[in-house]
Amino acid sequence: MSRGYFITFEGLDGSGKTTQLRRLATHLEAEGHKVVTLRQPGGTALGDRIRSILLDSKSEATLGPIAPAAEMSLMFADRAQAIAEVILPAINSGSILLCDRYTDSSEAYQGGGRQLGSERILSMHRAACDNLQPDLTILLLPSLEASLRRARRRNRRHTQQQGTDENRFERESDDFYRRIYQKYEEIAAREPHRVIPIRDDASIDQIQTRIRELVATRLPAPVA
Ligand code: TYD
Repeated sequence: MSRGYFITFEGLDGSGKTTQLRRLATHLEAEGHKVVTLRQPGGTALGDRIRSILLDSKSEATLGPIAPAAEMSLMFADRAQAIAEVILPAINSGSILLCDRYTDSSEAYQGGGRQLGSERILSMHRAACDNLQPDLTILLLPSLEASLRRARRRNRRHTQQQGTDENRFERESDDFYRRIYQKYEEIAAREPHRVIPIRDDASIDQIQTRIRELVATRLPAPVA
């Protein structure tokens, strides 16, 4: 059986990557591919527990402030479990794995946003994830201003509808998001073959068309 393909989606909160990922999944399935989707943090039983600790702003009221290095380590505990339980089995059985966030998020948010620096994140990635890299990373990077506006809007809606509070990250300051944005730029410049940035504020449909074209040029030819 041929090896599958590993695609990650990255960007700031509110960049639209989750919508784009879902639409790409539907498209690839319609083309006859086996597709597995996953989001980080989360996607396994352990990961969902870690997610609720990390994202619920109330958890700081009970747990106290989470130290940046603890936050980083929890992200990698989640990721190591997802690799073992979901990512490697999917890739090894020939599926296309679409993952909503991966180690670039840790480098951007904890490395850049929380100022732990890239080297700490990359060495943690080698230790916890055996340095497993995606084949392709789609980085949605519309303007910082547009991203912040969308994140705030989405967050308000989310809290109103569900009464839950997954906004620990969204409460951060604009400077925090500026550092994340800059780190994503650095990653894209460092790894131009793997990381493809989509920078403008085109419509959802236009961006989806571009993503489909890009993925079509990258997917390995089916084995006859
Ligand atoms: P989520 O609700 O999935 O947001 P989004 O739809 O924007 O992806 O929340 C994930 C949050 O966790 C997001 O603010 C980014 C953050 N995060 C990190 O800080 N480091 C990481 O390694 C990952 C995977 C996510």
